[in-house]
Amino acid sequence: MEQTNCHIVVLISGSGTNLQALIDASLSSNFKISAVISNRPGAFGLQRAQRDDIPTRVIDHTEFASRDDFDKALGETIEEIGPELIVLAGFMRILGSDFVSLFEGRILNIHPSLLPKFPGINTHQRALEAGEKEHGVSVHFVTVDLDGGPVIAQERVPVLKEDTIDDLAARVLEKEHIIYPKVVSWFASGRLQMQAGKAMLDHEELPPTGVIVHP
Ligand code: GRF
Repeated sequence: MEQTNCHIVVLISGSGTNLQALIDASLSSNFKISAVISNRPGAFGLQRAQRDDIPTRVIDHTEFASRDDFDKALGETIEEIGPELIVLAGFMRILGSDFVSLFEGRILNIHPSLLPKFPGINTHQRALEAGEKEHGVSVHFVTVDLDGGPVIAQERVPVLKEDTIDDLAARVLEKEHIIYPKVVSWFASGRLQMQAGKAMLDHEELPPTGVIVHP
């Protein structure tokens, strides 16, 4: 087993299947989940964390007068916990520039499309409507540019003729659960950084697609 000296905080809003993949991987990898924070009190991911004795916090965005106030409370909580890395896993809030610059180069997001295609929401539906032959998932550093930070890794899946949105989402999600723990472990081992707005792995600048990860 590798040394677990990289502490991460995972931010969620919902079911938390990516969180579960990170919890499972953390048992035999080089990172440890210090806390899980949800902006939704009912997020099922909170129960996944509690099952594994991971501390949880709820910072309910509906209780704040503005986006900035929410970001500030979130930032303060994270600073108190003091992780090396913030991992967004189905976290459905847009983070403002103050928050992002506070933790620059230390926030990862997973997005269910082959960025730069289909930033934003409803990615599977949009990929189907656009008649894409291929779809997939991207892991990227978070910058102020929504879903526009440098891509670290991607994995592709075929789009089949008879696919529904759910079929395609499930095929992509399976890849998400493989790719995300892998990228987090690269960061934890010091192999991955963001420098001057570029994703660097082993001191080499990554191409716009990031690394193409095959399980
Ligand atoms: C995933 O598809 C992730 O890429 C997107 O939201 C979904 C969250 O799923 N950002 P889960 O909560 O990890 O199950």
